[in-house]
Amino acid sequence: MLTLTDIAENPGRLTRRLTAREGRVIVFRPLAHSDVGRLAGFLGALSVESRRFSTFGGYGLAHAGELCDAIARYDKLRLVLEDVATGRIVGLFEFSLALVPSDIARYRDAGVRLTERSDCRFGPTLADDWQDRGLGTLAFPLVMDVARLLGRTRIILWSGVRADNLRAIRYYEKNGFRSVGEFAEADGSLSLDMMVDLPT
Ligand SMILES: CC(C)(COP(=O)(O)OP(=O)(O)OC[C@H]1O[C@@H](n2cnc3c(N)ncnc32)[C@H](O)[C@@H]1OP(=O)(O)O)[C@@H](O)C(=O)NCCC(=O)NCCS
Repeated sequence: MLTLTDIAENPGRLTRRLTAREGRVIVFRPLAHSDVGRLAGFLGALSVESRRFSTFGGYGLAHAGELCDAIARYDKLRLVLEDVATGRIVGLFEFSLALVPSDIARYRDAGVRLTERSDCRFGPTLADDWQDRGLGTLAFPLVMDVARLLGRTRIILWSGVRADNLRAIRYYEKNGFRSVGEFAEADGSLSLDMMVDLPT
């Protein structure tokens, strides 16, 4: 089983090349300390709608620096999708190896017992101009590989998915997730909890 320290010391263990539509080569790899500027470019370019669906603690250099400083220091693993032709980061896939009490309680109410031995949390964000082009689905087998290498057997959504995020719900469903229940956000809007069992 890989640890976050193993991955930081040997990012090649999780680095893969993908060929996206129109033959664009995309590298899927762990976030690196040297990514701060490019990550800030990615976050800063996210549209208002993408920021509503995938909310970050900031969208500039300071937050990008915090995410890079967090590499192998806490419970988070972040991977990026890099468009080789431009060197641009076009996606950020986030894992958390820790569970939070509110998730554990909601899933328990739905009859699912979450544990940090079996479950990890996952949240994907693609650059606006790369959404709805099949990239998220192309990368999903790699997401499952990462979770398995981390020793987990299920993936749950990090903070759920907003009920009006129809594209993301379709994306999760077509990649094997099932809805577990719904909950109200602070603003009263609804979100769904979804999870997938990893095929062995
Ligand atoms: C969610 C996300 C990761 C999905 O990745 P993606 O590469 O765009 O997804 P894909 O292109 O593989 O699949 C999208 C599916 O949704 C469908 N879709 C698109 N818009 C839709 C809509 N308004 N209603 C229903 N389905 C829709 C597409 O047709 C496609 O399904 P199909 O292959 O059956 O035709 C990406 O769109 C994204 O980063 N969105 C912004 C941030 C976000 O919402 N993150 C998730 C937070 S929970």
